[in-house]
Amino acid sequence: MNPRQRKLILAHSLPAIAAEHRQLFLLISNFQAGVRIGWEHPQLAALYERVIGLSIAHFAHEESLLSEIEHPGFATHESAHGKMIADLAPATYLDSLDPGGIELQHMFDAILVHHIREDVGHFFADAETDA
Ligand SMILES: [Fe+2]
Ligand SMILES: [Fe+2]
Repeated sequence: MNPRQRKLILAHSLPAIAAEHRQLFLLISNFQAGVRIGWEHPQLAALYERVIGLSIAHFAHEESLLSEIEHPGFATHESAHGKMIADLAPATYLDSLDPGGIELQHMFDAILVHHIREDVGHFFADAETDA
């Protein structure tokens, strides 16, 4: 793939990737607000499952894009996504984690940092590279 094709694909795809990031940030923020105001477990579990569902769909979207543009960091990025999904498995949360506890907070922080640092580094930096 030549640099111009790559740049055009990124320009087309980035708004949707960025919108998914904003939606994930909002869901995580809503979950944390729900914990603070004392939501019951079923409400929190439903919201948590939305975080997982959107994360799985979003990671697949990013991986598809990285593969399409033949990005050299594809395998590393895919591996990072797989680790986050494994950490977020619903059974782990539902059975053993405190919704307001530090373990879940660390998982959410890892996701937010990934989107800010690694995704912006891969996608947005590439899009700004001159073809
Ligand atoms: Fe992302
Ligand atoms: Fe990512």
